[in-house]
This record gives sequence, C-alpha cells and structure tokens, in this order.
Amino acid sequence: MSIDAKFLNLFIKATEKAAIGASKFIGKNDKIGADKGAVDPMRRELNKINMEGTIVIGEGEMDEAPMLYIGERLGTLNGPKFDIAVDPLEGTKFTANNQPNAFSVLAVANKGDLLSAPDTYMEKIAIGSGMPKNLLDLDYGIEKNMKLLADAKNVDVSELTACVLKRPRHKEVINILEQMKVKINFITDGDIAGVLSVIGKNPKNDIYYSTGGGPEGVLAAAALSCYGGQIQGRLVLDEEEKTRAKKLGIKDFRKKYNIEDMIKGDVIFCATGVTSGDLAKGVKDLGNEYEVTTFALHKSKKINKIFTNIYNK
Ligand code: FBP
Repeated sequence: MSIDAKFLNLFIKATEKAAIGASKFIGKNDKIGADKGAVDPMRRELNKINMEGTIVIGEGEMDEAPMLYIGERLGTLNGPKFDIAVDPLEGTKFTANNQPNAFSVLAVANKGDLLSAPDTYMEKIAIGSGMPKNLLDLDYGIEKNMKLLADAKNVDVSELTACVLKRPRHKEVINILEQMKVKINFITDGDIAGVLSVIGKNPKNDIYYSTGGGPEGVLAAAALSCYGGQIQGRLVLDEEEKTRAKKLGIKDFRKKYNIEDMIKGDVIFCATGVTSGDLAKGVKDLGNEYEVTTFALHKSKKINKIFTNIYNK
C-alpha cells in the first residue's frame, strides 16, 4: 500500500522545524542542548499529523528517553498507521563544533514495514544500485567483498573507493583496504551520509564498510531502498544490549539484515540540513526568517527532490 502523497510535506515540516531548533546550537559546544533543540519541535510537528504513528527507531528505549522513545505513539491517532524512524539530530558533534553534515532526519513506512532496532552498534556494508542482489556478505570479510564488487563493476580493486568511519575499531579493515590499494574516504562521524554516498548520479564512493549506529543503519536503508541500493547490517550486542534487543522482538542476535529485512514497501525519507553537507544545505538565518533545505524521497511517487522553505521566526 502506498503512502498518500499529502503526508510528504507534513513530514518535511517535522525535520525542518527540528533542524531550525538544532541550528540555534551551532558552534555552541553543547551536544545535549542541540539534540534537545531538535527533538522538541520534531515531536510537536509529528503530533499534529493525522496518523497513528509509532516510533520504531528513536532517541532510545522507553526507560532511557523521555521523548521520541521506541514505542511512543505520535500523531492525532486519527489516520493511517505508520512506523517512524527518527534521528532528530544526526551529527550532534558536527553541530556543536559548527562542522558540515549535521542534519535532521526521519523515515516513515506503513505499520510493520520498518525494523525496530535498539540503539546499539551495527556492522554495515552498503553499495549502490545496479549490482547483483545479495552480492556482498558480512561473513565474507573485507577482502572477498572488495573483489566481488570489483568483478561486478568490471574494474580493478584499486579503482574502487570505500567510505570508512574513522575509528580505532576499523584498523584491520583499513589495513586490508590499504593493502588492496583501495582509495579510502574517511568520515569522522555521520554514517547515514556515509552510506548514502554510494548512491546518486556520480556516487562519491563504491562501498560503505564500517560499524556505526544501528538506528542510523535502518534510516540509511530506508533511503537506499528508494534507489535500488543494497545494505547488509548486523547488530553488535553485549549482554545488556541483548536483553534490550529481546524486548524489541529480536531473537537471533547474529542475524544479518538485508535491506528488505529493514524496510519493506513504500517509504518517505526526509533529511533537512542543520549545517551544510552532502545531502542538503544548512539552515540560513535571514534575520526575520529561516531558510531551510530538505532532501526528500517518496518511493512510490518517485519523488527525489530538494525542497527549500521559509519559516517566520
Ligand atoms: P550522533 O549525532 O547521534 O552523535 O551520531 C553520530 C554518529 O557518527 C553516527 O552517524 C554513527 O552511526 C555513530 O555516531 C557512530 O558512533 P561512535 O561515535 O560511537 O563510533
């Protein structure tokens, strides 16, 4: 079932109001304030929508987040049933330090169509469209995966570019990529944009290969699904996290989630820039107004567009 087109603007408004809220904290070295600055207006906007929304990816689980927690019901409760994944501020550090690539993001699907993942790490491999289905697998390891990708693209491995989140835990992956002479584009944070760098007309990267946040993995999968891209993810869970995952209905802790396990059917994806970045321009303070820019996708309506809107202060 496709999501009615009238909802797109309403969800765009939610990320736009959140981005404006967070923008007041740009460069203020206050990650918590910036996150809260985004959460409150996003929740307010979502609550105005005629829907029965449920947060499946949010600010945390019920006992650890007061707002936009997993399981929270949102909307007027008078309308279609949606699952909603939110990251009111992706790039809290970028916002606090006035660096590019902070944005406010959400994805919406029909009830039951989005994976509810706990706020834990997830191993991720993502590639763009036009590749054989299930080409890569986390269990193959980096070397085999890179060779398979090079073969599928009919290029030498040394012609591939990989995006990697710069973290000590990726030392081995980086060593192997370097030995294979793969070009590496490091990111310091923000792996939704990292995953999405494998799609588009001239993708910056051939592959994203790193362990980042689980919620970010599902959000990125929602956007990738609009392009025919692929992602495989596996949660990384310690004992305490396994208990939390169980509460969300996850039984197989080593399950590899392919894109269709994370997102099914129609989806709306909106990302509004807080600071300017790869997906959208940042919030512009025009004096009496704010100008905001949103990258929005609506799968069934084939919408893939940048929207610019103005809000009075
Ligand atoms: P926040 O903006 O919520 O802090 O997330 C930023 C981020 O870089 C994500 O994009 C990424 O998935 C995760 O943090 C990586 O976590 P860590 O910094 O612990 O390696």
